[in-house]
Amino acid sequence: MSTDPSSYTVSIQYDRRLYRQDIAGSIAHARMLGKQGIITEGEALNIVEGLEQIRTEIEEGSFPWRPELEDIHMNVERRLHEVIGTETAGKLHTARSRNDQISVDMRLYLREVVGETVGKVRGLQGALLELAESNPELIIPGYTHVQRAQPVLFAHHLLAYFHMLQRDIRRFEYCHEGADALPLGSGALAGVPYPVDRQFLATELGFSKTTSNSMDAVSDRDFVVEYHSAAAMCMMHLSRLAEELVLWSSQEFGYVTLSEEYVTGSSIMPQKRNPDYAELARGKTGRVYGHLMAILTVLKGLPLAYNRDLQEDKEGLFDTVDTLLATLEVFRGMINTMQVNAESLSKAAAQGQMLATDLADYLVTRKGVPFREAHGVVARLSSYAISRNVDLMDLTLEEYQKHSPAFDEEVFSVTAESSVAARDVQGGTAPQQVSRALLEARKLLGQAGEE
Ligand code: ARG
Repeated sequence: MSTDPSSYTVSIQYDRRLYRQDIAGSIAHARMLGKQGIITEGEALNIVEGLEQIRTEIEEGSFPWRPELEDIHMNVERRLHEVIGTETAGKLHTARSRNDQISVDMRLYLREVVGETVGKVRGLQGALLELAESNPELIIPGYTHVQRAQPVLFAHHLLAYFHMLQRDIRRFEYCHEGADALPLGSGALAGVPYPVDRQFLATELGFSKTTSNSMDAVSDRDFVVEYHSAAAMCMMHLSRLAEELVLWSSQEFGYVTLSEEYVTGSSIMPQKRNPDYAELARGKTGRVYGHLMAILTVLKGLPLAYNRDLQEDKEGLFDTVDTLLATLEVFRGMINTMQVNAESLSKAAAQGQMLATDLADYLVTRKGVPFREAHGVVARLSSYAISRNVDLMDLTLEEYQKHSPAFDEEVFSVTAESSVAARDVQGGTAPQQVSRALLEARKLLGQAGEE
């Protein structure tokens, strides 16, 4: 730890990550200054060339980073002085402040990251969809309270996650909107006393509009909060999927086998195949929630306009971005490579107790028994089967009839297949509903469904 108190304000160790955005913002700004005659066209060109060289230096690793210069803005600007000379370099910061400069950097960064995030979410959606499409008829136990409840199609179960991710995409796209306004021209807080062309800057940098209020523009980090919030929600979804993979891959369930790449052995128990990737994803959700809380707390109570507290917006955001992107990538790989143990899933799904509701429905729809009564009959039947240690669907007709005379041999047509087929309601698990849902999901992914 450095004992020099000035190290406390230094941000270069993390904000250097914004070098591309910072340089892009400065290039656009220099061009605008030249076009408006605030500096000469020749000076503008000089500055632009100098900045391009600096970008190359950074990318090639030859840039002289100087922590004593605090942040990315000062590091680039100081280097510009060395590259093109102080006389011209000193003009770049005309009609600008670090306050509107960092705001433009953050907005550009966020815009890029949103695109990357949406791309990765889609990648995972694609993996889920492919897995669903390649197992269109597989029936598995559907759960409530982690108790086997009713049979459902495996594809139906996977599509539930597809839709969670679809909502995540909408939320990420929404943060793009929050960041999509050019703040340059706001200066330190009040606007700048030069004839700047903000519209030109907006177009150069790809913003669809300019900010409406300079004080709001330099202190607004709502778009950062929005990304954190969308990321927290997305991690929550991934964490739920993680939990299912942990359960499903356990010996108790044995529904899926995670590929070698996504499990680790134990240092002392040679038989173990631990689902560490899924567990870590579940665990990392905590830090993403934490960063959301942190940025909300940083912003709370800040008076207008810029305050240095705002510098604390970066590390949490970068960590959330890194965590989320890596997690999405891990899940895509895990889903792509995991093996589905269709036999144990089907066997579990065929277990009679899960057909209890269907037995009651059979009495109602085919035998005219009132639902409440049918429910009671099946509840007693179910306890009877459990007490004899036999499957509910393995009872004899006599045993059924002892509980209700309404039963006839048609009762044996109640199966896991008939159960899912009966749920032929839009959004339900019947095979024809699910195959339609798969096509719709394909369409949502922007890939043509195979008719
Ligand atoms: N490094 C600062 C941040 O990240 C930007 C510059 C702040 N401006 C200032 N006058 N201290 O927010």
